[in-house]
Amino acid sequence: MTLSVRDAVLQRRSIKLFNGQQVDKKAVMEILDDAKWAPNHGNRQPWRIVVGAEEQLPKVHELLRDLAVPKWQELSEDALAIQMKKFTLAGAYAFVLVTEDVRQKERLEDYAAAACYLQNVQLLAWEKGIGTCWKTPGFLDNPKFREALNAQPHERVISMFQFGYYDNVPNVRTRKDLSEFVTEFGQ
Ligand SMILES: Cc1cc2nc3c(=O)[nH]c(=O)nc-3n(C[C@H](O)[C@H](O)[C@H](O)COP(=O)(O)O)c2cc1C
Repeated sequence: MTLSVRDAVLQRRSIKLFNGQQVDKKAVMEILDDAKWAPNHGNRQPWRIVVGAEEQLPKVHELLRDLAVPKWQELSEDALAIQMKKFTLAGAYAFVLVTEDVRQKERLEDYAAAACYLQNVQLLAWEKGIGTCWKTPGFLDNPKFREALNAQPHERVISMFQFGYYDNVPNVRTRKDLSEFVTEFGQ
């Protein structure tokens, strides 16, 4: 199915409940490659992505368990599986890092460019029937997480980005009316 840009923008929703079906690494790579046409100042392309898909998923789940489930060793297998569902039901991962420039203007531009890149990813995935969610869990700055991603001192981890298939699209949350966020110059 080919969606118009407008339809993709209006219809895409963040998927919070995936159905457990894996997403092929090839599809993820295609999306990540196409998304690189995002606007970015100075052509710095300030993003770096670490993909976890297919054979990498068990290791990704282990890492997320260690980071996000306190005292997991003390849980029963079932209790742990329940706690892990928010991770294991996703079909692939992209951990997203952005360059942190020492110059404030460039740093802002680079974060904005990375956000443009990720919105491209979300729209491109949506067109393929793949849901996404940009997640910012509390462990993004955790040294153990940074080490696993080989994050360099000048890099900031900005997302645990999930891809996955879904059975239901969540209800749309209303947005403000245009008149609430747009005014005409001089009025
Ligand atoms: C920068 C950023 C961080 C986000 N972090 C989270 C998160 O940690 N957990 C989550 O469930 N959703 C997260 N989201 C998804 C938003 O909550 C989601 O976009 C919002 O629910 C609006 O829904 P929609 O994308 O379907 O329009 C994040 C989105 C953005 C842009």
